[in-house]
Amino acid sequence: MSATPDTVTTPTFQLDGEEIPFQPGQTIIQAALAAGKYIPHLCFHPEFKPHGSCKLCLVKISGRPAASCTTVAQAGLSVESEIPEVQDKRRTLVQMLLVEGNHFCPSCEKSGNCMLQALGYELGVMSPHFPQIFPVRPVDASHKEILLDFNRCILCELCVRASNEVDQKNVFALAGRGISKHLIVNSESGRLADTNFSATDKAAQVCPVGVILPKRVGFAIPIGKRKFDLKPISDPGASAGCAEHAEGGA
Ligand code: SF4
Ligand code: FES
Repeated sequence: MSATPDTVTTPTFQLDGEEIPFQPGQTIIQAALAAGKYIPHLCFHPEFKPHGSCKLCLVKISGRPAASCTTVAQAGLSVESEIPEVQDKRRTLVQMLLVEGNHFCPSCEKSGNCMLQALGYELGVMSPHFPQIFPVRPVDASHKEILLDFNRCILCELCVRASNEVDQKNVFALAGRGISKHLIVNSESGRLADTNFSATDKAAQVCPVGVILPKRVGFAIPIGKRKFDLKPISDPGASAGCAEHAEGGA
């Protein structure tokens, strides 16, 4: 006799001691977010395949470190997320990202809507800790609708994936290796104006930081009244569905 929906028990795993239900095939972060439990992340986006590059979603599973965005949930797992050891590693990762680029939050249009800034607050980042690298990354203001400020890029490749998989335009790519790795525009001149990029592209909506900014709307919502000014990123109302990705620059 086949099981009816009434007799099927939803599998669960434990996250910081709390039972989290999951659907077969869901990753740990997907199940946690669906249950209203926040796990820090930057390169994860619910509409894209896991990328596993930022490592902010680090957890411990049965004592071993794992990326929760690439680890499929299994019944009975014991997952630790909000423990000092893991939070310390996440804080270090955020500090490294902050010194690898040029992030001047007080003058950034994305302040209050930026996931990196919000994670800095969430994890108690009080100083850069590491020496600033101050890379030289000129902005690209050539496009009539969009400003590109490469200084803030954290190399999550969400714009690369969105432009490739959703917009089918392949406007962005990463070039170089190691500390020299950087975002480029796929045009002969390297300028955004010389592509078919549009402000309505998915790639214009997904940047978690302040690189891809719509022009002329920068401070339409004043700093102090933006998403993460009002609620911490860990608040289910702020992080639900990762809608923070979709807010553009204002
Ligand atoms: S521009 Fe934004 S979305 Fe694209 S790789 Fe850099 S941080 Fe990620
Ligand atoms: S969110 Fe999992 S590695 Fe970036």
